[in-house]
Amino acid sequence: MLAARATLGIGAAYGGPDAGGTLALVPTMGALHEGHRSLIRLAREHAGHVAVSIFVNPLQFGPGEDFSRYPRTFEADLEVCASEGVGLVFAPAADEMYRPGRQVGLSSGHMGTVVEGAFRPGHFDGVLTVVMKLFNLVQPDTAVFGQKDAQQLALIRRMVADLDLPIAIVGAPTLREPDGLALSSRNRYLSADDRATALALSSALREGAREAVPGEILRAARAVLDEAARATPPLLLDYLALVDPATFAAVPEDHRGEAVLVVAAKVGTTRLIDNTPLTLT
Ligand code: PAJ
Repeated sequence: MLAARATLGIGAAYGGPDAGGTLALVPTMGALHEGHRSLIRLAREHAGHVAVSIFVNPLQFGPGEDFSRYPRTFEADLEVCASEGVGLVFAPAADEMYRPGRQVGLSSGHMGTVVEGAFRPGHFDGVLTVVMKLFNLVQPDTAVFGQKDAQQLALIRRMVADLDLPIAIVGAPTLREPDGLALSSRNRYLSADDRATALALSSALREGAREAVPGEILRAARAVLDEAARATPPLLLDYLALVDPATFAAVPEDHRGEAVLVVAAKVGTTRLIDNTPLTLT
């Protein structure tokens, strides 16, 4: 495995597409967990070589967010990648990705300002800009992203379509703890009490998914979240919404077909997001 810590000229590092087939990229911010591992395994099914990028992207964090305390576990991450047969780990330094005088970036448009984007102004512009740079630097045939970040996945699909990128995007299902908590690098911030309250996110999604129409889905999920708002520590809801998975617009009451129930909340000092895809018949 080649680990490029501060080298942008990596074109031939994995042998190139002619040296044994296609390349799949799994972009990450490190602090790798089983969810990331599942993405790497899925990537292996789609290409002969797998590259993982590890870069905590300053552009996608807002002023009051957790950029400086975001977990950084580079040595352990390298071991995870080695054990999963990753051929290339690309982990650039921040000042190498963003050169002084930088002016140009991507806009995520209206879709980047709704739902999660309404709570994190500029976040999705930062995500798309870094993902585009990673695509240009690593030049994968395929890239794998988790459904856990459903709006991110939808916006990356939008970017690939709108900018005609020759890259296949593969979505991967969300990996969860046995009790339902979605795996996240941020889970390590949770105390035992925080974690108990945080379970309300996945429980709310499960309860919502038992219902058939938007109003009832939202009502059932909201009931679980309302109860968790009275727990210690309390759950502080940012949003609960039932949206179209491609546009992230709220679906109407008579909606049929695919939808995604999305939730975000703070527990203690930690902000968590989760979602579940639904098919309304
Ligand atoms: P990060 O949060 O490290 O996530 C990297 C990838 O892992 C994302 O595609 C995310 O959706 C996926 N992932 C996270 N938790 C998961 C889980 N429980 N099950 C399955 N997949 C999961 O998302 C980012 O980094 C960044 O925004 C990035 C795309 C790297 C751009 O900076």
